[in-house]
Amino acid sequence: MTAKPTVLHELPADLDREKLPQHVAVIMDGNGRWARNQGLPRIVGHQHGVDVLKDLLRCCRDWGIQALTVYAFSTENWKRPLSEVEFLMTLFERVLRRELDEMVAEDVRIQFVGNLQALPRSLQEEIDRAMAATRDNRGIRFNVATNYGGRQEILQACRALARQVQHGQIQPEEIDENLFSRHLYTSNLEDPDLFIRTSGEMRLSNFLLWQLAYTEIYVTDTLWPDFNRQEFYRAIYNYQQRHRRFGKV
Ligand code: FPP
Repeated sequence: MTAKPTVLHELPADLDREKLPQHVAVIMDGNGRWARNQGLPRIVGHQHGVDVLKDLLRCCRDWGIQALTVYAFSTENWKRPLSEVEFLMTLFERVLRRELDEMVAEDVRIQFVGNLQALPRSLQEEIDRAMAATRDNRGIRFNVATNYGGRQEILQACRALARQVQHGQIQPEEIDENLFSRHLYTSNLEDPDLFIRTSGEMRLSNFLLWQLAYTEIYVTDTLWPDFNRQEFYRAIYNYQQRHRRFGKV
């Protein structure tokens, strides 16, 4: 986490500290288009994307937001060209190795959510190391959805609960929202308050389908490598103008 914020180091004065989203979820979209617009290979967009993510994580910490969850790699992303998939896997591994000491020092607790067993062995080892090294940290929670799919997550929770019913450990009637949530990858996390997607796409793309049920959605046309604290400020400002009703009148 070496990227230095140039602006908005502190929480901007017109944001209400009492009404900050506690958990922000982000689809970091547009790396490829950003690179193409500059006449650069797509992977350069991903490299810039890492710097933007580092500053967003630090910004959340600076402003007092407790959890950030980002979509780094979806179950559908395996369909990309092999060279890009391999680049991303290596990038995740390299970034984890490079940033771990700083995350430990800055009290970040990192957690990966998704079907991690299907990732390259060396990346799994780096993930295990990072999660173990930051497990007791009590600062910001940083969750990285990797080989993550919302439908797959729901299905694996269904299977786990069905097995418990089959073995007579629970009755079907005991399955409620609370029990179901505890069988998701995000079992130890509150649902996000604010969901941000960059690059103008109005889709959830299989991200946190259960958890986003009552989350406020903010879409910006900005491509991820151009996202910054100013943009984040705008998203939170917009969020704070809304009245969250959770189905009530
Ligand atoms: C979407 O842009 C971006 C990704 C699939 C990868 C995002 C990953 C990072 C920013 C690195 C995160 C690193 C760690 C260690 C958490 P796109 O390629 O879909 O862009 P496009 O829609 O313009 O093609």
